Amino acid sequence: MLLRPETPSDIRTIAAMTAAAFGDTSEVILVERLRAAGNVCAAIVAEEDGELVGHVLLSVMSAPFMALALAPLAVHPLCERRGIGAALVRAAIAAATEFGATAIFVLGDPDYYTRFGFSAALADGFSSRYAGENFMVLPLSGALPVTTGEVRHAAAFWGLD
Ligand SMILES: CC(C)(COP(=O)(O)OP(=O)(O)OC[C@H]1O[C@@H](n2cnc3c(N)ncnc32)[C@H](O)[C@@H]1OP(=O)(O)O)[C@@H](O)C(=O)NCCC(=O)NCCS
Repeated sequence: MLLRPETPSDIRTIAAMTAAAFGDTSEVILVERLRAAGNVCAAIVAEEDGELVGHVLLSVMSAPFMALALAPLAVHPLCERRGIGAALVRAAIAAATEFGATAIFVLGDPDYYTRFGFSAALADGFSSRYAGENFMVLPLSGALPVTTGEVRHAAAFWGLD
């Protein structure tokens, strides 16, 4: 598997794969909105034998420290459970660290994301429109400087929840 930054020629394939992974187009719209608003910090694709099999985005957030949102994460439905999602999450964590972020927030299934160190308990102190048991945070460099405050996703997310 090859992990590499997304390029413009990937965009149509990413849209088709994301729609197939989620079973609807709301996450495709999210990706388009994030790109159009210039809110994407990192976009990574996974490739196998020249075929695109996965994609992950990191986008800017408003938070008491420099935080990025991981979303969406999509793996081609025919390629699940082969570690592609995990490789993309780890690549996103490395990219966010390189970007200088203090933390990554994610909205997802705790059964999946806790294996990477994401914590819903730690995110519990932050107010967000996505607050709840599926809202998690991963500190990237030791303890978070604060564990309360307001965090806001980019406007591209609004209306999709
Ligand atoms: C969730 C997703 C990214 C996982 O990718 P993947 O490449 O299949 O995952 P990996 O191979 O890295 O990991 C597989 C493990 O994750 C678990 N897993 C997969 N999807 C899961 C989910 N939605 N919730 C909890 N666990 C999940 C599998 O049971 C497996 O567990 P095991 O290692 O204990 O057997 C992929 O299934 C996908 O794109 N799903 C549809 C879109 C989606 O839900 N994206 C996440 C939004 S937050």
